[in-house]
Amino acid sequence: MKYKILEKNSKAEVTSLFTSVFTSSEGENEGRLIGGLVSELSSNIDNEEIICFGAYEEESLIASIFFTRLRFSDGILVYMLAPVAVSTEHQGKGVGQALIQYGLNELKNRSVAIAITYGDPSFYSKVGFQVLSENTIKAPVRLSMPEGWLGQSLTNEPIPTINDRPTCVREFSDTVYW
Ligand SMILES: CC(C)(COP(=O)(O)OP(=O)(O)OC[C@H]1O[C@@H](n2cnc3c(N)ncnc32)[C@H](O)[C@@H]1OP(=O)(O)O)[C@@H](O)C(=O)NCCC(=O)NCCS
Repeated sequence: MKYKILEKNSKAEVTSLFTSVFTSSEGENEGRLIGGLVSELSSNIDNEEIICFGAYEEESLIASIFFTRLRFSDGILVYMLAPVAVSTEHQGKGVGQALIQYGLNELKNRSVAIAITYGDPSFYSKVGFQVLSENTIKAPVRLSMPEGWLGQSLTNEPIPTINDRPTCVREFSDTVYW
C-alpha cells in the first residue's frame, strides 16, 4: 500500500470513491450527500485548511481521508478528521486504521496540537481518539450525536480546555453533516 497527500486533481477519483462507499454502506441518499461534500472539499484542497490523504494499491485509490482546520481565536492548530472511506472490497483489513495513522503522523510533523473527529467511538478509539466533552473543546455547530465528539492530543500535553467556539471550513457549515 502506498500513501499520498492528494491535490485538487484527484477530485474525480476521490469523489467517486466516497460516493460508492457511502452508497453501499448507507444507501443512495447518503452516497449523494457525502459525494457532494467530498466534491466540494476536494475542489478546495489547499493543504492548509483542507488536507486530503489517499491509500493506493496497484495505482488504484482504495481509501481516503480528509482533515479540515477548526479555527480558534488563539490560533492553536486543531484539525477535524472527516469524512473517511475505505473501498467496500478492502474494508475490515486494517486499511482504514493504517491510513488514519499515516494522516495523524503527517499532522504531528506539521506541529498540529489536537485531532478531533465525529463518529463511532468503537472504531475511532482504535486509532487513539477518546470521547471529548464540549466543556473541553466545543463543536462549531450543534451536535445531533454529542457522544460521537472525539479527540486526541498529538503532543505530550493533555488536551487543553478552550473556551471559545471554533469555526469550521465553509464546506461543513450545513447542519445536515452534524
Ligand atoms: C469505517 C471504515 C472507515 C473502517 O475502515 P476499515 O479499513 O474497514 O477498518 P479496519 O480494518 O482498519 O478496522 C477494523 C475494525 O474497525 C471496526 N469497524 C469497521 N467498520 C466499522 C464501522 N462502520 N463502525 C464501527 N466499527 C467499525 C471493525 O469492527 C474492526 O474491529 P476489529 O478489528 O476489532 O474487528 C470503513 O469500513 C468504511 O469506509 N466504511 C463505510 C463508510 C464509513 O462508515 N465511514 C466512516 C464514517 S465517516
